[in-house]
Amino acid sequence: MNLLERLQSLTERFAQSALETAGPQAERIAALWWLFFWVCTIIFVLVVAALVFALYRGRARSVEESSGPAVTLDSGREAGIHRKIFGLIVLTAIILFAFLLATEMTGRSLASLTSSGGVTIELTGYRWWWRARYLDPAPERIVVTANEIHIPVGKPVLINLYSRDVIHSLWVPELHGKRDLIPGHPNALWIQADRPGRYDGQCAEFCGQQHAHMRLIVIADPPDRFDAWLDAQRVTAQAPGDDTAKRGMEVFLTGSCALCHAIQGTDANGQVAPDLTHIASRATLAAGTLPNTPGHLAGWIVDPQHVKPGAAMPPNSLSAEDLQALLAYLKGLR
Ligand code: CUA
Repeated sequence: MNLLERLQSLTERFAQSALETAGPQAERIAALWWLFFWVCTIIFVLVVAALVFALYRGRARSVEESSGPAVTLDSGREAGIHRKIFGLIVLTAIILFAFLLATEMTGRSLASLTSSGGVTIELTGYRWWWRARYLDPAPERIVVTANEIHIPVGKPVLINLYSRDVIHSLWVPELHGKRDLIPGHPNALWIQADRPGRYDGQCAEFCGQQHAHMRLIVIADPPDRFDAWLDAQRVTAQAPGDDTAKRGMEVFLTGSCALCHAIQGTDANGQVAPDLTHIASRATLAAGTLPNTPGHLAGWIVDPQHVKPGAAMPPNSLSAEDLQALLAYLKGLR
């Protein structure tokens, strides 16, 4: 792969644009953006044209002046200029007021998307990852996952936002604007995707060393596929399939992994790190830092501080056999 191809694949993988809208909320924000863009563009062109005109006329006059008597403004002309300046100030105020009105109306229409009985996700920001809980009146049907959420296409989804440490901010440009996650101050946001696809989001508020490695993947599925995904996530972890995986489970439960991570259906119930019950079904590791492949997972387990310096996960020195067994076990957690 040459440099250009690498660059292309990178932009395809990470390209995000608030103007390539995929839902009603983002559409409203983009419409506001285009209104500002076109009004400001027209004003810019007019101002530059007036400047060029004034320079041109001033130059022509200075040639005239050098050969004739000095030109002075008569009082009638001066009053005319004052009127024009006053008129332009009033016009500027009207345009600014129209912008204010348009912004207010956009804000109101963003808040108007609601529904009852739909999907509600509790999203909590941690340094530097996202915990997602799909709420359900029946506690055993609650789904916990991390860094990758699925939503049903065409339905409003309520996201309740919390932070466990510092201020983070959720931003999925193709679906909605930014919304802060503030410790001790719950926030909420409605999103809706109108077409299936993967929409990348990330933390949009500087929250420390690994702020740039705090990505959230939003996958919009057709409703039946979404239901199937949610049902699959409700199932407790798959039991290890062979002896290697069995040994891996033992390594997980008796080592330090289980102190921080939870795997539903086992004794591992740590709550300070991502839930790993279905880790093999997720596309990335460490909140979008690495693709979820066995090689990257091994590197992440052994030396996370090399991949994501400052992250809460400590290095783990495991024997080669134990590491392979652990990988075999985790690979089975689909
Ligand atoms: Cu979390 Cu920046």
